[in-house]
Amino acid sequence: MCGIIGILGNHQAAPIMVDALKRLEYRGYDSAGIATVHDDRLERRRAVGKLVNLADLLVSEPLAGRAGIGHTRWATHGAVTEGNAHPHRSGRVAVVHNGIIENFQELRAELDGPWESQTDTETIVRLCEHYLAAGKSPREAAFATIDRLRGAYALCFLFEGEPDLLICGRQGPPLAIGHGQGEMYVGSDAIALSGLTDRVTYLEDGDRAVVTRAGAQIFDAAGHQVGREIRRVSVEARQMEKAGHRHFMAKEIHEQPQTLAQVIDAYTEGDRIVPPVAYDWAATDRVQMVACGTAHIACIVAKYWFESLARLPVDVDIASEYRYREGPVGTDNTALFVSQSGETADTLAALRYARGKARAIVSVVNVAESSIARESDVALPILAGVEVGVASTKAFVNQLAVLLALAIRAGVDRGLVDAAREAELVAGLRALPGLVSTALGIEDRCEALAHELAEASDILFLGRGPMYPLALEGALKLKEISYIHAEGYAAGELKHGPIALVDQSMPIIVFAPKDGLFDKAVSNMQEVMAREGKVLLVTDARGAETASDGVWQVLSMPAVAPVFTPILYAVPAQLLAYHVAVAKGTDVDQPRNLAKSVTVE
Ligand code: F6R
Repeated sequence: MCGIIGILGNHQAAPIMVDALKRLEYRGYDSAGIATVHDDRLERRRAVGKLVNLADLLVSEPLAGRAGIGHTRWATHGAVTEGNAHPHRSGRVAVVHNGIIENFQELRAELDGPWESQTDTETIVRLCEHYLAAGKSPREAAFATIDRLRGAYALCFLFEGEPDLLICGRQGPPLAIGHGQGEMYVGSDAIALSGLTDRVTYLEDGDRAVVTRAGAQIFDAAGHQVGREIRRVSVEARQMEKAGHRHFMAKEIHEQPQTLAQVIDAYTEGDRIVPPVAYDWAATDRVQMVACGTAHIACIVAKYWFESLARLPVDVDIASEYRYREGPVGTDNTALFVSQSGETADTLAALRYARGKARAIVSVVNVAESSIARESDVALPILAGVEVGVASTKAFVNQLAVLLALAIRAGVDRGLVDAAREAELVAGLRALPGLVSTALGIEDRCEALAHELAEASDILFLGRGPMYPLALEGALKLKEISYIHAEGYAAGELKHGPIALVDQSMPIIVFAPKDGLFDKAVSNMQEVMAREGKVLLVTDARGAETASDGVWQVLSMPAVAPVFTPILYAVPAQLLAYHVAVAKGTDVDQPRNLAKSVTVE
């Protein structure tokens, strides 16, 4: 969701903030804005659209000042207009906010109009200014305002006449305070602060902080001053560059052999699976997996693995449903949450629902310092590095690798996978990065096919067994970046309704490695070909040999044992989506309406 930066520095803040917002643009890119205090005067600049528009505006209308706040917006309340862009201002106070204020209508009713925006955020500054007008100090006014807010927020206030003061608060979305040399920063995550400082304090829920160049005083929700640890975090600047690729997504797809090797290395020792944080699966009777989007699809794949390798029953839920369903959680259940960002609001809320009920809270996360990681009993890293492209690629593949390693480990703990089978699986895992590298060799074919696929208005993806979730992932990836309507189906389910959609204009992408379900998948493929559906079959050489008759195109993948196919077949799902999006000329890394880290529900 939205990105926040705050600076109390010794240099001009505007260019530094624009730089930080550039790193944060993946969180939202509907509009951007900054405010500074210079000669005690509060001023702001805001622009709709990508950050470059704000940067251009700052050339013609520069903003001086060494203290400032900045924001990149993913719209929740109110359209994408300059009036709705942050920072919001009322009189002497400006604020940047990430989240949703649930009681904003109620608060608005207490304050006089007219209102400049349709946002919930304007209510925050108006309320704060109201308290200032009543004689409160900036700190008292900001704290009194925060006390009135219900909902989710990370926010940072800046005040006219106060060039050495930022006040911030957090309830829900993360907020970090950065400690520099005689300078202080506030950021919505460590990426915002990378290059500025590596010494970071994360606010906890309910915390608010008074930040000056001398340091930060932090108070909990009850108003007690509290100490919060300063951690050293590392965000490699290199990971924020495209390294010669046209898009971050392309770079991240091509990094996969390396990022996959990295995570497999961290989860294996010799012939054994040894996760970096130990967890005993023997005592668990059921796994509840909860996540959103692509991470949810990774959980569906993992269900096949846990059930077959460890004979552990698995329920997979979408976090936004799970959190309100009030489903039973047994004391021997393991609640497992998967999240790249570790900040997804629904997944975090689901985790909090399961806390205290399940045997343990286990999470599989990419961002080690994230809220989900910090609130878990066992936080398992996927070690994919920073993922900038909004469409998840290398994080998905590494989530799969970790979940497979855990399923094998659960099989070992439960006496179902013996040492010889474990060694065989570990060897298979170690071979995967090389196979992913080979699979990337289909890129030219994907690019060639993409031009034709880009003409379609609807595309179906089919798969059976663990290729069914891959079909879901192929469809999700394609629709989010190319804006072509796509659906993923379990191939056997097609004739129960969706087959009515099939005609000669409908490309149907079938993921079918030559495994135990291949013949069944081919029968389903024949059913669509009989209705003139245009089939693109993604299979291995043996599959291509037996089933290419009558298909429109075949993409040939390296052969691999069935347990590993989901990891390998992520590659064609990603490359097809990527090249169709490029052919359509969409904004691949920042597709419309989306944001990388969804910190509102
Ligand atoms: C799709 C995508 C999203 C995320 C989802 C969950 O390509 O990236 O569907 O997977 O928003 O995000 P995390 O994993 O950060 O919880």
